[in-house]
Amino acid sequence: MKIDGITLASDVVLAPIAGFSDVGMRYLCAQAGAGLTYTEMVSAKGLVYGNEHTEDLLHTTDEEKVRAVQIFGNDPEIMLRAVCGRELEKFDIIDVNMGCPVKKIVSNGEGSALLKNPKLAAEIVRTLRSSGKPVTVKFRIGFCKDERTGVDFAKYMTDAGAAALTVHGRTREQFYEGAADWDYIAEVVRATDVPVIANGDVFSKEDYEKIKAHTGAVGVMIARGALGNPQIFSQITGRKFAYATVKETVLRHIEVLASFHSEIYTVNNMKKQIACYCKGLRGGKQLKLAAFGARTLDELVRAVTESEALDVAVPERR
Ligand SMILES: Cc1cc2nc3c(=O)[nH]c(=O)nc-3n(C[C@H](O)[C@H](O)[C@H](O)COP(=O)(O)O)c2cc1C
Repeated sequence: MKIDGITLASDVVLAPIAGFSDVGMRYLCAQAGAGLTYTEMVSAKGLVYGNEHTEDLLHTTDEEKVRAVQIFGNDPEIMLRAVCGRELEKFDIIDVNMGCPVKKIVSNGEGSALLKNPKLAAEIVRTLRSSGKPVTVKFRIGFCKDERTGVDFAKYMTDAGAAALTVHGRTREQFYEGAADWDYIAEVVRATDVPVIANGDVFSKEDYEKIKAHTGAVGVMIARGALGNPQIFSQITGRKFAYATVKETVLRHIEVLASFHSEIYTVNNMKKQIACYCKGLRGGKQLKLAAFGARTLDELVRAVTESEALDVAVPERR
């Protein structure tokens, strides 16, 4: 799969996931075969006005061969300044969030609010194109529950010069409820000639094959299916997973995070990640409790190391 001349090693990509697609998760997923990894959404204003927390989201490793940063905003000029800034230099692709359903974002006219303002959305894409980097857009199939405006929206984005489109097959009002509408993603694919990445409800290799066949999309994006489960990319791409057990995987995740972040940041972020790794594991609840009680990196690593729940072999999990 190619995006504006950039060749991806595979057609399955890790989604932007606020609070989760940290540098450790992106490292593990890229190593397992994800052809593209996205940071979580980052505020363009935060970048331009130097919000100290924003840079925490932007660390990358050499394991990520093609790197996408996802930004959100509603002001094309501020967004362009963010894209041209030093912090985003290392990113190959600029993705614009036009799907976030969260009230605070939508009421600012950002995220999925842009679905209702396709002219402004197109102006954002056109303006960001002047940075010289490929600009991609991630959006939902409509705003209101039963509305399907994604085909028209895709045309606006394509005409404005978007290099690829990711379509999450739900509307804003659905948030994460109900099944993703793969039929409608197929309509978007048919309506545009730029690469489309299909997104929604992919939790296994079978789902990956089904969504590709169903929609005709050239790429597939995975979010929830990768939480605590980076090996899903190995299962799909056939690339060998580097860790034999879940414990080894978690310890590597901690190590990568700790190499970029403060102790407190690493401990707090890993608690959420560990809750995902524990899902469905016998004895997982005990580890979760031990991890949540940890105040230092040593205590966290000890809880993980001593947990028998994590001694399970990786491919046996799901
Ligand atoms: C906890 C969480 C955080 C998310 N954060 C983002 C985000 O920062 N940017 C974005 O475009 N989508 C975000 N999403 C949406 C996902 O990228 C994806 O579109 C959605 O979860 C559907 O894919 P899935 O069925 O594979 O989970 C988030 C989803 C979840 C569950």
